Amino acid sequence: MTAVRSLHSEKKRSCVKMNWLLSLAAVCVLVPSVHCASVTGWCYHNTSCSDTKWPTLFPSYCAGSRQSPINIVSASATADSNLTAFTFTNYNSDSALTKIENTGKTVKIALASGITISGGGLPDPYDSLQFHLHWGNGSSVPGSEHTVNSKRYAMELHIVNSKATYNGDTALAVTDSTGLAALGFFIEEMSGDATGQPAKWNLLSSYLSKIVNSGNSTAVASGISLDDLLEGVDRTKYYRYLGSLTTPSCNEAVVWTVFKDTIKVSKDVIDKFSTTVRIADDSSELMVNVFRSVQPTQSVTTQSSCSTSGYSLGLLVLSLVLGGVRDI
Ligand SMILES: *[C@@H]1O[C@H](CO)[C@@H](O)[C@H](O)[C@H]1NC(C)=O
Ligand SMILES: *[C@@H]1O[C@H](CO)[C@@H](O)[C@H](O)[C@H]1NC(C)=O
Ligand SMILES: *[C@@H]1O[C@H](CO)[C@@H](O)[C@H](O)[C@H]1NC(C)=O
Ligand SMILES: *[C@@H]1O[C@H](CO)[C@@H](O)[C@H](O)[C@H]1NC(C)=O
Ligand SMILES: [Zn+2]
Repeated sequence: MTAVRSLHSEKKRSCVKMNWLLSLAAVCVLVPSVHCASVTGWCYHNTSCSDTKWPTLFPSYCAGSRQSPINIVSASATADSNLTAFTFTNYNSDSALTKIENTGKTVKIALASGITISGGGLPDPYDSLQFHLHWGNGSSVPGSEHTVNSKRYAMELHIVNSKATYNGDTALAVTDSTGLAALGFFIEEMSGDATGQPAKWNLLSSYLSKIVNSGNSTAVASGISLDDLLEGVDRTKYYRYLGSLTTPSCNEAVVWTVFKDTIKVSKDVIDKFSTTVRIADDSSELMVNVFRSVQPTQSVTTQSSCSTSGYSLGLLVLSLVLGGVRDI
């Protein structure tokens, strides 16, 4: 028992110390930013306006030091006991998705009001405003924005949330270093040769043929909830860092949450994104490789083993083993 107690308090002390270091690091990267807008004059497909040019085309803020996306090195993610579970409100609503739009850069789905997130170590409650996707060129050419241990996934879904006190005014939210909270989910090809799966992803992708051209949008009928689309993801396991919008003007106003589990979607559904929607009119190129390259690393945190019951259980097992060994 003594061994258990000293092990435990030692672990506690190192957690407290780590939390201190982390909060210092967090303060150092909180760069206040001003200005915003939905900007034009950038692209993904042409070297004259693609991401390597963004720092010159949009020096504030694409040339900043807190840019997203990043490559997440799982072994370097430090523990933070503040990263508790989220509360997702109305993520089970069947009428959450209102409109789907081809912006010329992505496919964006507007969300109904009253969909919110809180907890998850966020400083405030946030309203979920929209989600959109990033992809490569079919399931064989991956196009997630974040990478984990340099692995790029087929697609990435971003749910964009704005601090509730800003009432959906994202122009105001981007002036706050934690004004936006983005939830990133990796989409991976489902194993086996199922098609049209999951059914709700298939249903969502059936709207793509109605928004082939940039500027096209259409209403989404009820019947798809956010929970449906996030199926299979343990939303208590995630990485956290402070970053930016991944498109110009790259405002450094985003608390990033990148979930560890992936959403599994069948190949045919993934392929629909890169074979249906176009960047402008019918004669324009298909929308492919719509992701920004990874930016310099940031300090990443993840759930603390200090506060989970899994840890205590592990400690108990460990102490039993050690105790047993010492007895021999
Ligand atoms: C955890 O949250 C507390 C209370 O909000 C805060 O004081 C502390 O700095 C946070 N720790 C980290 C590591 O962010
Ligand atoms: C890229 O954009 C420039 C400037 O608009 C244009 O002149 C050029 O033809 C484009 N190149 C390609 C490969 O689309
Ligand atoms: C995307 O993939 C298709 C089919 O494999 C190929 O024909 C096309 O050239 C690719 N597009 C780009 C931009 O790589
Ligand atoms: C889609 O956009 C094109 C080009 O702007 C337009 O001509 C067409 O009417 C739109 N289609 C729909 C269904 O809105
Ligand atoms: Zn995005």
